Amino acid sequence: MSEHHPVIIAPSLLSADFAQLKDQVQLAEQGGADWIHLDVMDGHFVPNLTFGPLVIESIRKHTRLPFDTHLMMTNPGQFIDDFRSAGADIITVHFETCPHLHRTIQHIRETGAKAGVSINPSTPVLALNDIISDVDLVLVMSVNPGFGGQSFIENSLAKLRDVRRLVKSSGHQIHVEVDGGIDADTAGRVVEAGADVLVSGYFVFGSPDIPASVRILRQSARPYSAT
Ligand code: DX5
Ligand code: ZN
Repeated sequence: MSEHHPVIIAPSLLSADFAQLKDQVQLAEQGGADWIHLDVMDGHFVPNLTFGPLVIESIRKHTRLPFDTHLMMTNPGQFIDDFRSAGADIITVHFETCPHLHRTIQHIRETGAKAGVSINPSTPVLALNDIISDVDLVLVMSVNPGFGGQSFIENSLAKLRDVRRLVKSSGHQIHVEVDGGIDADTAGRVVEAGADVLVSGYFVFGSPDIPASVRILRQSARPYSAT
């Protein structure tokens, strides 16, 4: 990458202690987190269950950080208004779950939220060609969605390069987010490949020192980023 972007660190609460969500969010914030990433799983699109709008609304009171809401669910369009009312600032849906993706993205934007589209590891970048101009963010899954703590899939680096190229050719300001297996080793490499938003669950919340882990991620990304 010749051109560099300020890096956004978005810790994912998936690996947090759910009995202490307020404290865990505040620890991430102390470490300098930029966004909080919220993984919504429905047990259909992915083989796991997490939380919905009620939990998001409860933690909304305890931080001013933007809520980056990643909907790993079938029929996400049905719940967009609920997630927005609960406090989601960015709402990302999966390409694989949306037969009417353009309509769903428009719906998200009509609520005032930023709209994101995510692709699974096996979904090609060309799936984004006809939606890129309508989104604020592309989320490249670098693991198969459903669980925290999985290993980074190396092919994601090539995908990130292709997505960054597509974003550039669109002429729009669009975030390139990467999610799965991001730690002190992979952070620099994904930023070098074109990511500007790093989601990290286990590395941050699996650590005994949450603020320090956020700082380590930022430091690891730094040689490649503008800040
Ligand atoms: C996976 C989720 C991720 C997850 C990442 O399905 O979308 O946001 O929390 O976790 P790590 O960083 O542990 O791979
Ligand atoms: Zn996620």
